[in-house]
Amino acid sequence: MVTSQIPVITIDGPTASGKGTVAHRVADKLGFHYLDSGALYRLTALSALRRGTDLNDEHALAKLAEHLQCSFQGGDIILSQENVTDAIRAEEVGNTASKIATFPTVRHALVGLQLGFRKAPGVVADGRDMGSVIFPHAVLKVFLTASVAARADRRYKQLIGKGISAIMEDLLMDLQARDDRDTHRAIAPLVPAEGAHVLDTSNMTADQAVEQVLQWYAAVGKPH
Ligand code: CDP
Repeated sequence: MVTSQIPVITIDGPTASGKGTVAHRVADKLGFHYLDSGALYRLTALSALRRGTDLNDEHALAKLAEHLQCSFQGGDIILSQENVTDAIRAEEVGNTASKIATFPTVRHALVGLQLGFRKAPGVVADGRDMGSVIFPHAVLKVFLTASVAARADRRYKQLIGKGISAIMEDLLMDLQARDDRDTHRAIAPLVPAEGAHVLDTSNMTADQAVEQVLQWYAAVGKPH
């Protein structure tokens, strides 16, 4: 199949909107590949934190991004032969990811890696700019949202479930700061892509959201 015919479903949205869970399950149901683009920003952030790279040095950060030695193996994320699946989920790493994601050259350095996930029979791409920048011709674009309270609650449970301690007040503040940065940055800001279906999941289970996305996909069908 030529690359331009491989179906892409983009699922963008703010932090802790449930994108990851929904995108993952949709990919499983359809037998598609899954791109967790946020993980690439987190991997760059983790690399930078570990090496002590100056977080204001855009050039050095872009170089790190460009030369990331990472692979996705089933549910595991490997960085330079180390399993960092849990390490990249730490709040410090997420906050650093959101800061370095404001640098155009860092974003640019990660484009090729993201496009490489478009493989047959299809890909579900999860992030902030999947439908607006990386895959503007996606067959289906979804923008998932949820109230700040619902998202903080989900993030709290997610962290506690992984044995990572968390304080609700801090999470709320971090979440709002991250929303603010992601929405107001000059490059690839977090906005629904043109033509995206907006889905508010505040009062929905993940399964209901998955069902809705699958219904939309069935309605648009496969391209060509
Ligand atoms: O888990 P959460 O939704 O908080 O974050 P993530 O999807 O793992 O992404 C971490 C950070 O990377 C986000 O706060 C964004 O600033 C940035 N990011 C981005 O700029 N563009 C993407 N396509 C994905 C993530």
